[in-house]
Amino acid sequence: MTPVLHRLLAQALEAVGAPPTLLRSAAFELASLEHADLTSPVAFGLAKELQGQPKAIAERIVTELKKRMDDSIGVGRIEVVGAGYINITLKDQQLWTMTTSIDRPVNATADAPTVIVEYSSPNVAKPLGIGHIRSTIIGESLARIHEFVGSKVVRLNHPGDWGTQFGKLIVMIQDQWGGTVSDDRTIRDFVQIYVQFHERAKDNPELEIRARQETVKLQSRDAATINIWKAICKKSYQEFDRLYARLGIHFDEIRGESAYEADVPSIVARALESGVAQKSEGAVIIPMPGLAAPMLIQKSDGAYLYATTDLAALQYRINKYHPDTILYVVGSQQTLHFQQLRAAAIALGIANDAKTQHIPFGMLLGANHKKLSTREGSSIELESVLDEAVEHARAIIAARPDGKEWNADDLNATAQMIGLGAVTYNDLSQNRIHDVVLDWGRMLSLTGNSAPYLQYCVVRIKSILAQAPEIGSEIGNPPPLVDQEREILRRLVRFPTIVRLSAATNEPHRIADYLFDLACAFHRFYEHVPVLAATPKERNLRCQLIDRAAKVITAGLHLLGINVPERM
Ligand code: ARG
Repeated sequence: MTPVLHRLLAQALEAVGAPPTLLRSAAFELASLEHADLTSPVAFGLAKELQGQPKAIAERIVTELKKRMDDSIGVGRIEVVGAGYINITLKDQQLWTMTTSIDRPVNATADAPTVIVEYSSPNVAKPLGIGHIRSTIIGESLARIHEFVGSKVVRLNHPGDWGTQFGKLIVMIQDQWGGTVSDDRTIRDFVQIYVQFHERAKDNPELEIRARQETVKLQSRDAATINIWKAICKKSYQEFDRLYARLGIHFDEIRGESAYEADVPSIVARALESGVAQKSEGAVIIPMPGLAAPMLIQKSDGAYLYATTDLAALQYRINKYHPDTILYVVGSQQTLHFQQLRAAAIALGIANDAKTQHIPFGMLLGANHKKLSTREGSSIELESVLDEAVEHARAIIAARPDGKEWNADDLNATAQMIGLGAVTYNDLSQNRIHDVVLDWGRMLSLTGNSAPYLQYCVVRIKSILAQAPEIGSEIGNPPPLVDQEREILRRLVRFPTIVRLSAATNEPHRIADYLFDLACAFHRFYEHVPVLAATPKERNLRCQLIDRAAKVITAGLHLLGINVPERM
């Protein structure tokens, strides 16, 4: 209905003498729920143009709008409020018809924009750290959100699989493991030999020399060295994949830094030839006026850097996918790097200004508000966080007797969904730029703003519906609604707009806020309004209403990467 309203608004604006620029940009937005359904601030902009009072101009616009509106538009009340806002309240009938399949995504059309979401991007031979955990959770959600609004989404993973650390690992694998990585090795073993390397190198400086030689051999593709490197990567990917499978994540392309090695020299040459880069004490830099530091793209010893690889990766992505936008879901510590990348890409003609977008986020903190770490002080592993969450979830549901016994498989599967959901929701329900605290009590609360609360809401609705199997006949014109019913519908109707806003700002927490508010509206309804015990007509309407609510909550949770169990 909003396209119709926007057309009417444009006509009304024209009638009161608004300039064409304003006609195009004028729109109705979501009003705050306590005031109305839709609102437009257009009178304020027009007041400046026409040098009048916003309120008087808003009144004139409303008069023109009313002339053009008939019953079919679905507007119940239209009025000027405050200093000149035009507020619209929708009719019950309109709310009812608009929310019929409101949980469905928009289908991508041929001309839909392509959005690349680069996320997770862990480092080989190390467990996923906090930054990678958050990147994985936020990135997957953003991919789903952009897909929902009809974009073509490419999920990319850019692992760190190249660099001087491999020389060290390879030396240790030669000395300790006879040059092979057997099947039972884990990422922990790599971490351990890496630490051991540094301990030993203190007394054996020749180890550092050998490590540098191995790095050079790796770069020159020496067969034996490459084989060990491949084994390290393979082992790491096996572990990453296990986690991705657990989280329900599939990448369209996993392409590590090593894949860009061949492209990097030409990027540096081009930067020098075009005058974008310059030599500085033997190194190559791209000056960055206005930023905190220049971008270093080649060290004085000839080595290329993280940043150089990113330029090559950007070029590759643009050539392959022709994206409209590339989102880099990477912690806020790398903000300067991505500012430099964007400026360098523009200067080199690789990308325009709008293409690359850094999506930064804060840290993950323990319940004590300190940086999460294992006892040894290294960064915590994602798997241990997930396992802990699942254990908490298991204890909660095992202790919730809903009359039925759990079989072991169902209990496990449900504990997984609740535990992983709790971790994911805890992350995504807050503005991503803030640090997130792992507070188990709050994360798993069945009454507060948590995944289990929302999951339980859906489970509850489904169990009500299971007791009303005859429900489902078409309701053309709903009977007059009670307030609690209308309050659910007024929220449901907002779902697509909320997802669009969340896509436009790359902020999943907008969806979480919305879902929590919707679930609260359901609980207010359910406390005061009978469903199964109502008259047949009301019962039919109310069952369909809560069915729509359950579908929207399920769809919204899916956008956050969270599944809903059958029972809890
Ligand atoms: N592997 C990097 C790290 O752990 C993150 C990569 C981010 N992506 C990028 N295109 N630079 O810090």
